[in-house]
Amino acid sequence: MIPYLKNGSGLISRARKYFNDTREPFAITLTGGKLYFIVRELASSFGVSNSALYEFSRQPLGEKDDVVSRKTGIKNPRLKSLSQLNNDFWKQQLLPGERYSELQERFLGYIETSLIQADTSNKSATCEAANHEHTSLMEWTQSVLIDAGVRAFFGDKLLELEPDLPKHFLKFNNEQWKLWHKWPKTTQMRAAKSQCIKTMQQYLALPKHERPGAAYMVEIMETTQRALGIPEDDIAIVLFMLLWTTNTNTYKLLFWALAHLLRDPGLLATIREETAPAIKPGKGVSIPYLTDSCPWLSALLNEVLRIYGDASSTRLVTAPTSIGGKALPVGSCVVVPAQQLHFNRSIYGPDVNEFAPERFIRSKNLTHSSSYRPFGGGISYCPGRLLARQEVSIFIALALARFDVEIVGERKFPVADKGKPTAGVMSPKPGEDLLLRLSPR
Ligand code: HEM
Repeated sequence: MIPYLKNGSGLISRARKYFNDTREPFAITLTGGKLYFIVRELASSFGVSNSALYEFSRQPLGEKDDVVSRKTGIKNPRLKSLSQLNNDFWKQQLLPGERYSELQERFLGYIETSLIQADTSNKSATCEAANHEHTSLMEWTQSVLIDAGVRAFFGDKLLELEPDLPKHFLKFNNEQWKLWHKWPKTTQMRAAKSQCIKTMQQYLALPKHERPGAAYMVEIMETTQRALGIPEDDIAIVLFMLLWTTNTNTYKLLFWALAHLLRDPGLLATIREETAPAIKPGKGVSIPYLTDSCPWLSALLNEVLRIYGDASSTRLVTAPTSIGGKALPVGSCVVVPAQQLHFNRSIYGPDVNEFAPERFIRSKNLTHSSSYRPFGGGISYCPGRLLARQEVSIFIALALARFDVEIVGERKFPVADKGKPTAGVMSPKPGEDLLLRLSPR
């Protein structure tokens, strides 16, 4: 058990080699049972009460029993449970359309404002590790994207109520994996979680007109839960989960992308040149241009997600199933670890271990391979994948247009914390960072 928790990916790699690297499914025995993995209900580990979880999963028996529809007017012809409806709400918020465009514009505005502030003060406002001239890469990426993420979804009120919310969130995020692995020492992480939830409770206690600017997803989650009579304390935890989901990975994608870019002056020049036309003075940034006309930026993000993408899709076997000639017993848990797919030599070739964005330029269809799964797949395919990439692209394009960015000193390249379980993108090991000098262009 302990080797898995210390380095799950490493243990799976060793097991794969033991089976002669055939890449066929195999079982790992944990804690004595023939389990393929341990899954714990995410919401329950965050602290949502059993009665609220019951309300979330209960499917209405008929139209009269469909309290959410009756009280809110939301159409629900298939009589879905609230958790099934939530998946639909996420898609309405995050797949291209009016609600998505509005959210995108908010992100753009907040990222732009933060970078202008960095421009005038020549450093990011919240960079504690930075002195007057130097900026910590980690703190820069965290402060700008988490500020934008919180404001774009909740309006400005949440940060007015608790300006230190990003700090509490990060303390929680760094150790949140301990929640579902029953780790013994969790005092700091739990204290940080309580702080975040307390702020969410204060937010919910305010009348709506005193907390304007919430995104559709926040509004609809609150409205539907109140309709079901779910207590405010549970709603606060569910909204904290939303804050976690929307912010847990994206700043890490940005961190690694910038770290690699700053190490490769040729690639940096190419991406600065290809993204420049997306920025129209006085008219903001053209997001479609960044998405569709910047192949090297796209390739950089694809490669970062390949190397550092460490999610695992987990599925419960509910009917007799066979994969690769192996029968999977009903009731067992199957895990598909992205890292194992992303380092498949037969797909990525002999340079599989190298950081080489050009592989995605050479082979346009590589992102469609079943061995490329940074955002999971199937029923729980990440609905935030477009937004995450766009947040990072906006930051990179604006930062390269506004600043000459250089690494200060002889810092070695940050080492990823491969031992720590993550829900998406690996963190660097504690203390691994780069110090930057930003000079306005
Ligand atoms: C680099 C950034 C991100 C990465 C690597 C990432 C990765 C993932 C992964 C691996 C899953 C689970 C898929 C599975 O179990 O098969 C997931 C689910 C999810 N992600 Fe993301 N994500 C990112 C950013 C975002 C953002 C910005 C949002 C929202 C704004 C978001 C919203 C969600 C939601 C709501 C789910 C749950 C989907 C479901 O269970 O139906 N993600 N993400």
